[in-house]
Amino acid sequence: MKQPKVGVIGLGGQSAFMAADHFPAPGETISCQKLFFELGGKGYNQAIACARMGVDTVFIGAVGADDHGKACRKELEDEGITACLIQKNIPTAFAVITTDQSSENTVSVFGGAAKALTPEDLRSDAVMQQLRQCSYLLLQNELSSSCLLEACKIGQELAIPVVFNPAPAENVPPEAIGGSTLITPNYGEAKLLCGFGETEKPVAQQLAERLAARGAGSAVITLGAEGALVIEQGKISKIPAFSCGKPVDTTGAGDTFNGVLTAQLALGKPLCQAACVAAVAAGIGVTRPGAAGSIPTGAEVKAYCKEEWL
Ligand code: RIB
Repeated sequence: MKQPKVGVIGLGGQSAFMAADHFPAPGETISCQKLFFELGGKGYNQAIACARMGVDTVFIGAVGADDHGKACRKELEDEGITACLIQKNIPTAFAVITTDQSSENTVSVFGGAAKALTPEDLRSDAVMQQLRQCSYLLLQNELSSSCLLEACKIGQELAIPVVFNPAPAENVPPEAIGGSTLITPNYGEAKLLCGFGETEKPVAQQLAERLAARGAGSAVITLGAEGALVIEQGKISKIPAFSCGKPVDTTGAGDTFNGVLTAQLALGKPLCQAACVAAVAAGIGVTRPGAAGSIPTGAEVKAYCKEEWL
């Protein structure tokens, strides 16, 4: 049996957060009240969430030969994460995140070096050596499709369960759904993946059943303030949301959920139990500004969890 170790393959880079009263309409210029910088990326944040739960974690991605890339390596290492970073002659990824008064956010991402990670990079000796040690893989949709599919293939070849968080849900290759063990979209992403229009409101159970039938077998649909819905071997379970104060910034809540969920699965916890712990972690994270900086430690999460979940 392998030791619990999670391999996260994804985007890491710099983010600029700006807080505004409202989001700009097309053509509008708005004033922002706050500006701060934070390293992030969905995979990057998920790796931090996983490691903060005390699980051995490797982050695999590509960065540029610039200060942001260096800062990513340093922060990952400071978090106790193995940083398996391939250097590209392209700037490190950069995101502009605007939050409004209701704690909602908009995110614009320049993928840069992270998008230039290739299937060949994943097959390199250094990366494969790391992947062989992993007991779980965690993927998102911020990589190129060819890389995402190669990662699923490697997971299958090495018999490593693959958790696929299809975020953002644009242009998700259908084979990535079939190639994963568990798919974890939020409600909006699940709707898009199932072909529903913006104004349609299908029930979450229908979405979970459809996605599970498309190959992944199991699905967790996160529902924000309403918790999450789990489907496993055809059985549906509702996971309550966890509130631990006034939400100030929901950026990265999905990343916290996915990192903690995968950490708990790697520790051998059943899916519903893992989802309860992940919901607690996300509930704590939204009460703080930022994404990576809002992710709670294992001790903070445990303090709020019911004993039977741990
Ligand atoms: O999910 C939040 C993340 O998405 C941010 O950290 C940003 O970098 C974007 O990729």
